[in-house]
Amino acid sequence: MRALVLLLTAACLAGAQHQALIDYLERRLLAIEDRITLWHEQTTRYAAELRELKQQMVAQLDSLDKEKESLRLSLDGVGGRVDRVEREMDYMETQNGAPPCVDVDDKLVEQQVTQVKERNKARYAQLSDCSEMISSIKAMKIVKKLGGPKGMWTKDVGGASGKVYVLNGTDQATVYEFASLRDFTASPDDASLARALSLPSPWQGTGHLVYEHHLYYVSDQLRVLKYDLRNASLADSAVFPAADHVPVYGLTPETVIDLAADEEGLWVVHATRRNLPPRISLAKMDAATLDLEQSWDTPCPTENAEAAFVICGALYVVYNAPQPGRSRVQCVFDVNGLVSGEEAPLVYFPKRYGAHSSLKYNPREQLLYAWDDGYQMVYRLVMKPKLEV
Ligand SMILES: *[C@@H]1O[C@H](CO)[C@@H](O)[C@H](O)[C@H]1NC(C)=O
Ligand SMILES: *[C@@H]1O[C@H](CO)[C@@H](O)[C@H](O)[C@H]1NC(C)=O
Repeated sequence: MRALVLLLTAACLAGAQHQALIDYLERRLLAIEDRITLWHEQTTRYAAELRELKQQMVAQLDSLDKEKESLRLSLDGVGGRVDRVEREMDYMETQNGAPPCVDVDDKLVEQQVTQVKERNKARYAQLSDCSEMISSIKAMKIVKKLGGPKGMWTKDVGGASGKVYVLNGTDQATVYEFASLRDFTASPDDASLARALSLPSPWQGTGHLVYEHHLYYVSDQLRVLKYDLRNASLADSAVFPAADHVPVYGLTPETVIDLAADEEGLWVVHATRRNLPPRISLAKMDAATLDLEQSWDTPCPTENAEAAFVICGALYVVYNAPQPGRSRVQCVFDVNGLVSGEEAPLVYFPKRYGAHSSLKYNPREQLLYAWDDGYQMVYRLVMKPKLEV
C-alpha cells in the first residue's frame, strides 16, 4: 500500500515536472516568436531605409554627373579662352618685337627656300620625280591678324616675287597685294599699305591660288577665272565641268572647289554626289589653258573635312570636328600610288588652334599658309622620302 502511494506520488511529481518543462518551453517559444517579430519589423524597416538611401544616392549621383558635365563644359570654355589669350599673346609678341621677329622669320623663310632649291637640284639631277611626303609639322608662326574669320592668304607659290596676297572673306572682290612679308606684318590692320586690286567678279569660298603672277579663283557657277596680277586684267576663264558637285569640305561649306599647287603644277580638289557619302576627287589642271588633264576619285570623305593641300602629287585632307578641336591630316591619296592610306602618318597640327578656313602649300618654301579665325599663320613641315616608311 505504501509502495503504491509512493509510486503515485512519484508519478504525480514526474507529471508536475513535465508540465513545468512544457510551460517553460512555451514561454521560451513565445519569447523567441516575439523576437522574431521584432527582427522582422526591424529588417523591414532597415530594408526600407536602405531603399530610401539608395534612391537618395542615385539622385545625388545624377546631380553629381550633371555637375561633372557642367564643370567639364566650363573647363572647355576656359580652355578655349586660354587658347585665345595665348594666340593673342603670340600675336602681340610678333607685333611688339616686330623688326627682329620678322627679320628672323624672313631669314628663316629665305634659308628654307635655298635649302629646298638645293635639294630640288639634287633631286632633279638624279632624274627622279618629286618623292617626298609629309612626316610632321615642325613649327608654326602667327604672322598677322587681319580681316574676318574666314579668308585666304598666300605668297605667289610659283614665282619668286615674295609678294603677299590677302583675300579676306568668302564673297568679296578686292585682293590686297603687299610688296613683301615685312610690309604685310608692318601694315596696320586696315590693309592701308596694300595695293588693292578689284576683280571683275567676286570670289566664292576660299579655294583661290596665286601661281606665277596669276590669281586663280572660283566665282559662282563654278567658273574658274585666271587673273593677271601684273596688269590687273582677266587672262582666261573656264567653267569647271563637274556634275552633281557638292562643297568639297564639310566644315568650310562656302568653298565649292579648292585650287592647290605643288611641285608638279596645279590641282583642283572637288567632290561630287556620285559617291555616297560624298568623297573628294582630285584633278590635274593645266595652268596655261585651265584644261583638266586627268582626274582621280579618292577614298577621302568630305564629312568633317576642313581643308586640303597637295604635295608631290599626294593629297592630304585635314579633318576637324564641328566644334573645332585639333586639326589633323587623316586621309592621304597619292596619284603615284607611293603613299597608301595605311603608311601615311597621322599628322596633327599644333594644339590650341581653331578651324582652318584655308591651307595653302608653298612648294618653294615647304610652308603651309593658313587662315584661322582672322589670324594668318605659317606652318613649317618636316618631310621624308615617300618610300621610306
Ligand atoms: C574683311 O571682311 C570682313 C567681312 O568678312 C569685313 O568686316 C572686314 O572689314 C574686312 N577687312 C578688311 C581689312 O578688308
Ligand atoms: C597683261 O600682261 C600679259 C603678260 O605681260 C599680257 O599677255 C596681256 O596681254 C596683258 N593684258 C592686258 C589687258 O594688257
